Amino acid sequence: MIFTTSLTNCLSTPDALGFVNAPSLATFDVRSPSTGLLLASLPDMDLGILRATIDKAAVAQKEWAGRPAAERSDIMRRWCNLIIAQVHDLSAVLTAEMGKPLPESRSELLHAAAYVEWYAEEAKRIYGETFPAPSRDKRMLVIKQPIGVVGAITPWNFPASMVARKVAPALAVGCSVVLKPAEQTPLVALALHTLAQRAGFPDGVFNLILAAKGNAVGKELCTNTKVRKISFTGSTEVGRLLMRQCAEHIKKISLELGGSAPFIVFDDADLDAAIEGAMQAKFRNAGQTCVSANRIYIQDGIYDRFAEKLTEKVRKLSVGDGVTPGVAIGPMIDARSIKKLKSHVDDAITKGARLLCGGNRHGKSGTFFEPTVISNVRRDMLVACDETFGPVAPLIRFSTVEDVIEQANDTIYGLAAYFYANDLKKVWHVAEALEYGMVGINTGRMSSEAAPFGGMKQSGMGREGSRHGADDYLEMKYLCFGNL
Ligand code: SIN
Repeated sequence: MIFTTSLTNCLSTPDALGFVNAPSLATFDVRSPSTGLLLASLPDMDLGILRATIDKAAVAQKEWAGRPAAERSDIMRRWCNLIIAQVHDLSAVLTAEMGKPLPESRSELLHAAAYVEWYAEEAKRIYGETFPAPSRDKRMLVIKQPIGVVGAITPWNFPASMVARKVAPALAVGCSVVLKPAEQTPLVALALHTLAQRAGFPDGVFNLILAAKGNAVGKELCTNTKVRKISFTGSTEVGRLLMRQCAEHIKKISLELGGSAPFIVFDDADLDAAIEGAMQAKFRNAGQTCVSANRIYIQDGIYDRFAEKLTEKVRKLSVGDGVTPGVAIGPMIDARSIKKLKSHVDDAITKGARLLCGGNRHGKSGTFFEPTVISNVRRDMLVACDETFGPVAPLIRFSTVEDVIEQANDTIYGLAAYFYANDLKKVWHVAEALEYGMVGINTGRMSSEAAPFGGMKQSGMGREGSRHGADDYLEMKYLCFGNL
């Protein structure tokens, strides 16, 4: 077992989840994508367990919501402190099950803790509003109340920060949560859940459902009337299905879905800064992020120098198991991803693009892919119109501002966009014209607990982080006092 003693303490067993009396449960395996080694076998919880958990969450939520905000805040802060105290071991779990390099795991866990801290503070600032009444005998105001039981479904690419981003605001405002983490990466969620119990969340307030397949769990969460809200991060395809399932009961839903982020470099940009930004926006988490630069547009005057410098940097990226010091690119999550990357590269080459580096599977075992740069890419190539989700950088040449804005917006997605430029007038124009929920200007990274993360168009609805992230878990209630 790769786990250290303190980590084993941190990971709850099925007993800790309260299902010790369910010996008939099937199990599912969690394996390292780097080595294929078995990390854990976990209970595959069935619908009976899920329904009982939802019932319990509905009862617990009422008591939790009735507690003073300061009390909820204190428990959240303790949870944050426990995450920080265990960051070393938690990073090892995250890297083992997901594959990303250890420093990236550490950074993600600290980001997760930052969300918990942020919402521990925000819990005390859920303000109402008063309105000047149009007649003498009336007073009008609004209070905000927790929505109730929340069903949260989180992805494998950020198995810690996505949990914190959903669970922390929900718990802070007085909701209870039933969390279903991705089946590929449930271990760090399990550890975060255990730490939350240690921090003092009452029984039934924060619940974890482990399951080998998400479909049945997702359907139950969407159709069970005791669950009042769904928050999902994952593909647009699954988001669409969940939304359909929520329609029957008009259930509220927040969705953070796919993206195809344009990364635009204008002639007047600081070239070195743009290269740094592209490395972050494209190669962080081996390109497996929803906000990954999917289409890199470079203006004529800077194109050749950009391509040369980027390729030089990409060639130096070391690929391997995330536990190995110096590794920058870990494995893809599964063999299917490798197949997709290869098909994107081959399609581009067949249609006339030029391979500058990489382009193939890396090594003989594991699910590694060479960091890749392709130039002369056009919009009809798969790599420019599908979400690649891997370490492949397609370079597209453009001439004018209006042309690149049109190309950048020509997609069903609207999550993140990035651009590098210095002319102030152009910066404002482009920032306003891009149809994206988030725009990075002269930066390749913008995710923060302090800012609203989320997309337009088919990239989803709702926002996570900042005070707006709490609104998704609150109902507004208008109170009208008459006859005064
Ligand atoms: C993602 O949702 O894929 C990106 C998360 C992040 O950048 O923190």
